[in-house]
This record gives sequence, structure tokens and C-alpha cells, in this order.
Amino acid sequence: MNNKVWQLSLLSFVVAAFTGFLYRYGMFWPLPEGIGFANIRHAHSHLMFFNWATPPLMVWMATAVVNGNEQRLSARFGACLYTMLFLGFLSYPFFLLYGYHSVPIGSASLPLAAIISGLVMITWYWFIWLYWKERKTTGDSLHLTLYDGALIALVISSLGAWGVSVFQFTDIDSPLVSSAMTHFFLGVFTEGWVVIGLLGMIWHRAGEPALPFEAWWLWLPLLFGSMLVFPFSLDRSIITPAMHLSANAGLILIGISTALHLWLFVRRKLLIGFLMKTVAVLIGLKVLFQLIAVLPFGIWPGEHGLRVLYLHLLLLGIVSPVLVEWFHPNRERAAKTIFTLTILAVLVTLLFISGYWPAQLMVPNVYHWVLVAAFLPGVPAAWLLVKAFRPES
Ligand code: HEM
Repeated sequence: MNNKVWQLSLLSFVVAAFTGFLYRYGMFWPLPEGIGFANIRHAHSHLMFFNWATPPLMVWMATAVVNGNEQRLSARFGACLYTMLFLGFLSYPFFLLYGYHSVPIGSASLPLAAIISGLVMITWYWFIWLYWKERKTTGDSLHLTLYDGALIALVISSLGAWGVSVFQFTDIDSPLVSSAMTHFFLGVFTEGWVVIGLLGMIWHRAGEPALPFEAWWLWLPLLFGSMLVFPFSLDRSIITPAMHLSANAGLILIGISTALHLWLFVRRKLLIGFLMKTVAVLIGLKVLFQLIAVLPFGIWPGEHGLRVLYLHLLLLGIVSPVLVEWFHPNRERAAKTIFTLTILAVLVTLLFISGYWPAQLMVPNVYHWVLVAAFLPGVPAAWLLVKAFRPES
């Protein structure tokens, strides 16, 4: 089952990556009738979150709690994970064509993408329930503790997303509250669920480290920090000093915990080979970026260009190569190296258009390079997908 889920996740990556490219294409040439930038962004980001970042992490978690028993894995978790992936794919055309708007069906009109997203979140709860049932029978280890922490983050993040839906039915007319809840979801989902889960995956394969401090340092600061950073995504002019202070505290907490993991990885010599060394450098840059954002240099992490760069540094630069390496261990070296290089190309071009790249060093025709780079990662991902279909894979 691991490989089937992985194939579907890789397929999602290829489709979502092409959708990201379509966004850049639309900056030069007319987009297909009825498809706007906002909807393309929704379709891209939701498919990446629903089907790329989530099911592969869950497969590793499920494998851990069934002690690697393939049959039990399929029997307990198969229906849940396939339903999750199916709904993720189903949401894609609705996000692309209608975004969060209602779709006319006969005499009614329903926000189908939002409804399907709600169903996806229900499959997350379904997974958590199955996980806890199995978890009771397993012992304790760092990776299981991290998996537990990641799933707690997933539940907490989903509350933000439900909050946005419920809020639409109240009389309170405040775009600020709705935006705060959306960004609360995004923050806890990325810094909490994805990051803690990914770190769990890394320790799962590496084995238990000898810790010179309490294990909670490796996840609790990430969990609490992820809940505090959302004010950075709001308009800077409306942030109160207390909100700014708590968001800074969130960044520091996340930075400390991530730096501790990085230090342990280096001490255990886990980050070997081009792909993992690149991941190590990007984790270092992530920590550096978050700590610089706390210092009074006037950097606002929520600014559009910087936010897009940071999100891709984390989700494309750190998460994606680790997933590829973990599902293709010791094989497809060329495809994995090219995948990593194309990701670096995307990140460099995003740095150019982040708003912080010096004008005198700007590359001529920069958006052409942004367009070319956006096309690249889908190619080695498609190659890996073909490889994943080979029976010997
Ligand atoms: C395969 C390479 C990728 C390309 C070419 C790409 C491209 C893009 C583009 C063009 C945008 C819109 C940027 C804008 O609004 O200015 C975007 C936004 C976004 N992407 Fe990606 N992306 C890639 C990978 C990923 C991955 C792996 C994830 C998550 C797992 C991801 C998550 C997001 C999110 C959440 C946004 C919305 C950002 C925001 O407006 O706050 N992307 N991406």
C-alpha cells in the first residue's frame, strides 16, 4: 500500500506543480477561459497540502504503529488513505474553476470546493482515530512522540479552517477575524503538522538519538510556536504590540526546536549525500530567516514575496526532497539529484522576486526565468512517478 499511496501523491505533485507553472504562464499569455489567478493558486496549494504533504507522512505514521506489518497496514488504513487522496483529487477541478465560490447545481448553488475540503478534514480525523487505536499497543520512542505531536497539530490547525466556515454564517462582518483564522490554520498546518511529522519521519528511519535534554524540546516549542506566528500574515498596520510580541515568541520557539534537530542530525551524521546536505542547508536558512525576522531589521515575514519564498523553502525545498528520498531510498539517484537541482532553481527565482533582492543585482527578464524554473520540478517528479510504477520499485 505504501507504494500505491506514494504513486498517487507523486501524481498530485506533478499536477500541482504544472498548476504552479500555469500561474506563471498566465503572467505572459492569456489563461484558459474562466480560470483566474486566485483559483489557480487555490487549486495548486490545496492539492499540494491535501495529497502531497499529508498522505506520505501518514503512511509512515501508520507503518510505525502497525510495526511495519504490510497486511495490517492495508487492512486498517487503506480505505481511509485512499478516500483522502480521492477527495483531494476531487477538490482540484472545483478549486480551479470556482475557487471558494458557489457552483450552480440545478436550482441550488453550493460551495463545492469548500465542502470537499471539509470532507478531506474529516478523513484526517478518521486517520487519527485509526492511529490512536493502534498506538495504544506500541511502546514509546522519539519518532512516535513526534508523530503524536504532529497529529495534535493537525487537529488544532483544522479548528482554524472550520472556524472560517462557521464564521461565514455569523453576523460578525470582520475580514480580520476570517483572515486571522485562515492564517492560524496555515501556520499550525505547516510549522506544526508538516514540520513535526517530517522530523518524526527522519528519526523514524535514523533510529533513536541519545538526547542530552528532555525530548519535549523537540516538538512542544514547534507546536506552541506554530500557534503564535499567524499575526505575521495579517496587515502590519493592524497588529498590536502584544500580537507582534507573541508572534516573535512563536518564531523563537520554532527556531530553537528546529536548530536542536539540525544539531542532532549533524552530530549523528544523518545528512549525507547531495540531497540531504541541501536539505540541511535549507533547514539552516529557515532557522536563520526566522531569527532575523525577530530582530529589528524591518523584515515582515508575511509580505507576499517573502511569504511565497519562505513557504516554498519549507514545503518544496525541505519537505519534498525528504519525501522523495524516504520513498526511494538508495535508488533513482539521478532523478533525485535533478529534482533537488530544479527545486533550487525555483527557490533562487523566488528569491529574485521576493522584494528583498538588490535591484542592481537583478537578472534581466527575471519573470522569464521564474516561468522556466516553475516548469522544471514537475519533470523529474514525473520521471520518479514512472519509476514508482515499475514492479521492482
Ligand atoms: C513544484 C514546484 C512549485 C511551483 C512551480 C509552485 C508555484 C507556485 C506559484 C506560482 C504560486 C503563486 C505565487 C503567488 O501568489 O505569487 C504558489 C503558491 C503557493 N504554493 Fe507553490 N509551487 C510549487 C511547489 C509547492 C509545494 C510543494 C507546496 C506545498 C506542499 C506549495 C504550496 C503553495 C502555497 C501554500 C501557496 C500559496 C502561497 C500564498 O499565497 O500564501 N507549492 N506556488
